[in-house]
Amino acid sequence: MNPSLSKELAQKIRDSGPIRFDLFMQSALYHPQHGFYSSGYTRTGIHGDFLTPVSAGPVLGQLLARQVDEWHAALGRPPSICLMEQGADRGLLAADILNAMITHHPKLRGATQLHLLEPSPALTDLQRNTLRSLQGLFPIHWHQDSESFSPHEIPCFFYSCELVDSFPVRIARHRQGVWHELFVSLENDRFVWLDQPALSDILNELHRWSVPSMEGFSAEIRPTAGTWIRSVAHLIQQGLVLTMDYGLPSPDLYHPSRSAGTLVAMREHRHTSDPLQDPGNQDLTAHVNYTELMQEGEKGGLRCLGLTDFSQALTRLAEPILSGKEKCSEKWIRNFQHLTHPGFFGKTHQILVQGKNLPESFHPSILKSISACTNSSG
Ligand SMILES: C[S@@+](CC[C@H](N)C(=O)[O-])C[C@H]1O[C@@H](n2cnc3c(N)ncnc32)[C@H](O)[C@@H]1O
Repeated sequence: MNPSLSKELAQKIRDSGPIRFDLFMQSALYHPQHGFYSSGYTRTGIHGDFLTPVSAGPVLGQLLARQVDEWHAALGRPPSICLMEQGADRGLLAADILNAMITHHPKLRGATQLHLLEPSPALTDLQRNTLRSLQGLFPIHWHQDSESFSPHEIPCFFYSCELVDSFPVRIARHRQGVWHELFVSLENDRFVWLDQPALSDILNELHRWSVPSMEGFSAEIRPTAGTWIRSVAHLIQQGLVLTMDYGLPSPDLYHPSRSAGTLVAMREHRHTSDPLQDPGNQDLTAHVNYTELMQEGEKGGLRCLGLTDFSQALTRLAEPILSGKEKCSEKWIRNFQHLTHPGFFGKTHQILVQGKNLPESFHPSILKSISACTNSSG
């Protein structure tokens, strides 16, 4: 239980009235002491609340290291490159990539510096712990936010896994012929949903994404997604940006068949029935609107190179192993299947690949046979 956060939020509602859902979600996940993530408890993996492609094993990191190596070669092997991750949780993916560089990609070893964007002191400590043995081999730097990282001259490979789905969302619902926005109120000391008439800012977003005005239709809108991808674009002079997450292009995300929205609350590997219950002790997440990241990234100078699912992307990167040119263990195969099987991460998770100032001829293996992006919302 985390009664302090519930009490704090309840008092806020008593003092100032119902709060917008994204502000409730911000506190539930990132309250400095009691937030689900910022409290520093183990959240991912078998002993946490849910599995992610990272906590499933080291293969994702090993395959990404191949992509970094190919990109480094395409740039003519510059003497320094910057690997940058946001939302690293315990730092497992960064450790898997660096370990793969040591074993399989010696040309990257002397060239790579790692930068982690991490606002939470508790998670920074966990990451330092995970990466301790690698710190003598690679320069590793932590930054509280993107502002404290000055844009780098050296080429940058920026990646995140299940980061954007955890950015707070606003929720709109169409009811009795008009759009409402969902707020959080109190009833007998329990948090309850409250519909308020939707204001013009959220109506503009619903219009931008052609969200169908169907009775009962719910849609999440993520206020910080555009600012985030534009800030990533600003950080990089030249490089690749990989965003790995569950999500869809906007016409599929806001499709009439997905009328209940995508907000999910998770705890101990189960969906819970009430996203408002026990804030700080359950995860809250919603699908990513990939069209938004493509369009807003373009505004910051990121060219969209392609969007592909885990199954296709990782199968392409694993080609030398799958074709028998390189050996692998049973354990490796199980981890790979978990990442690519349609019943696990293979079809739910997508990788958006964006690039800035890269050679026109460069087409990353992760996207081979994928044609250029269609980033329209219609
Ligand atoms: C679902 S977890 C994913 C963790 C890890 N990347 C993985 O795939 O196992 C989401 C992570 O994003 C982090 N996060 C959310 N917003 C962030 C932000 N603005 N800056 C850095 N990390 C953030 C959370 O603290 C949490 O560790």
